[in-house]
Amino acid sequence: MLNDQAAGLRALHSQQNSQPKQTEGSKVMPKSTSNQKPVRVIAVASGKGGVGKTNVSVNLGIQLSKMGNRVLLMDADMGLANVDIMLGLHTQYNLSHVLDGQKTLREVIIEGPGGLKIIPAASGVKRMAQLNAMENAGIINAFSELADDLDVLLIDTAAGIADSVVSFCRAAQEVIVVVTDEPASITDAYALIKVLSRDYQVSRFRLLANMAKSPAHGRQLFEKLSKVTEQFLDVSIDYFGAVPYDQSLKDAVQKQIPVSLYRPSSLAANAFENMANNVQRWPTPKGVSGYLQFFVENLFQGN
Ligand SMILES: Nc1ncnc2c1ncn2[C@@H]1O[C@H](COP(=O)(O)OP(=O)(O)OP(=O)(O)O)[C@@H](O)[C@H]1O
Ligand SMILES: [Mg+2]
Repeated sequence: MLNDQAAGLRALHSQQNSQPKQTEGSKVMPKSTSNQKPVRVIAVASGKGGVGKTNVSVNLGIQLSKMGNRVLLMDADMGLANVDIMLGLHTQYNLSHVLDGQKTLREVIIEGPGGLKIIPAASGVKRMAQLNAMENAGIINAFSELADDLDVLLIDTAAGIADSVVSFCRAAQEVIVVVTDEPASITDAYALIKVLSRDYQVSRFRLLANMAKSPAHGRQLFEKLSKVTEQFLDVSIDYFGAVPYDQSLKDAVQKQIPVSLYRPSSLAANAFENMANNVQRWPTPKGVSGYLQFFVENLFQGN
């Protein structure tokens, strides 16, 4: 076990030019943030499963990439319908190999379609919550090295309120909650927002209505949910937009091609394009929270 950890550390540290500076407590200061630009970190979450998180993450990623952003999609869902399966990619390595010291972070990243880069799902996601301070330091620096090549980090989370989901949402700058117009999806989205705000101090969310019958239907769904959250919770929810129910998206899933590439002029692909435009207009993260290593550091705090 100790040997494993030592090997992991050596591999992680070999990716960097110098050791991270260890400051008081377990906080780690990356070696330089001054020459790095902010990276947008967006978690995609939902209360109920199967409402479209993976499709949203992949297609938003592809549209943002089309607009010239360098996008990394982290598959943080260890369930069955994860990103590599949806895209028909064959992955051999993942985050757990980084933690074991067998691979560097760059080596496990695979090229997805449409310019998307992907960190495949792994039990490593769970392990990331249980690292010791030295391992944390290594992985934080491994991530911060990536920051130079990145504009957006998207995280496709698992459904519900699992530990890894709340950790990712708490650490991200933006949380997109995907909801469909079914009672279970709405109540579970409410429950997720409640736990994240009450126990993890996440106070701002962006709601995406998926499988909407019309733009008006999407907005009504947002209003339904935001009315209750505003009444009972201390949160602000912005409307991110609606993705229509679209057979093209279903066909694309069957073909293992993202709808934005399979049917670029479909209603769903258009909606994702509008949303990506919307993301570009979000205020740029300012201060330390805009740095990638701040996200990774936050991921480890309080686990
Ligand atoms: N806009 C849409 N129009 C039509 N069908 C859709 C739409 N969005 C999602 N679906 C259907 O829902 C299925 C589930 O989508 P997806 O895998 O993206 O959900 P998920 O929230 O990631 O699921 P899980 O919680 O299992 O990870 C898709 O395979 C597709 O059939
Ligand atoms: Mg999924």
